[in-house]
Amino acid sequence: MIKTAVLVSGGGTNLQALIDASAAGEMPHAALSLVVSSRADAFALERAKRASIPAAVVARKEYASAEEYSDAMLALLRENGIGLIVLAGFLSILSPAFCKAYEGRILNIHPSLIPSFCGRGFYGLRVHEAALERGVKLTGATVHFVNEIPDGGEILLQKAVAVHEGDTPETLQRRVMEEAEWVLLPQAAELAARRLEEAGTTERKV
Ligand code: GAR
Repeated sequence: MIKTAVLVSGGGTNLQALIDASAAGEMPHAALSLVVSSRADAFALERAKRASIPAAVVARKEYASAEEYSDAMLALLRENGIGLIVLAGFLSILSPAFCKAYEGRILNIHPSLIPSFCGRGFYGLRVHEAALERGVKLTGATVHFVNEIPDGGEILLQKAVAVHEGDTPETLQRRVMEEAEWVLLPQAAELAARRLEEAGTTERKV
């Protein structure tokens, strides 16, 4: 099994989807070993506690730059022998050096069909506001590998979701989560972990 860390910043519903899938035996290659939050008040930490997953806070506000922050995060992940990283509503930027150190081993979930409504400044509800403003009839979610370009890495899985008449950013966000994000993220984590295991690299040697 690949030791997997989930990085979070907020409510953690995507983390919950991973916890539930793991408990249901749907992620046989990915062991949820560590949850790391960029904020001490993230409810995701409570979810980790309830699931008895070790959790830590590496608070973004305590670091002057994305580089220093990423170095601290990298040190923690290395200490824990983490082989796969899942960004699940993690809203801090990680440095190019971090992305390079875990190249091909970092997944992110984004709440749109990339390349629409993505990149710098597109996160959380803002993504759905932009989709509604543009009047698209289909949106969705994407799981992609992370590189130094925000939302720019290779796409692993995508799922489309219909926009309904009268949707608000909140109703659309909820539908995208239920129909796409919470389904895709466990599938993607399992797929990435299985591929890493098949390649014979269970632990990141960095
Ligand atoms: C999710 O909708 C996720 O796709 C989004 O933040 C939300 C976190 O919710 N991520 C981004 O916008 C990244 N650009 P959660 O904390 O309940 O999982």
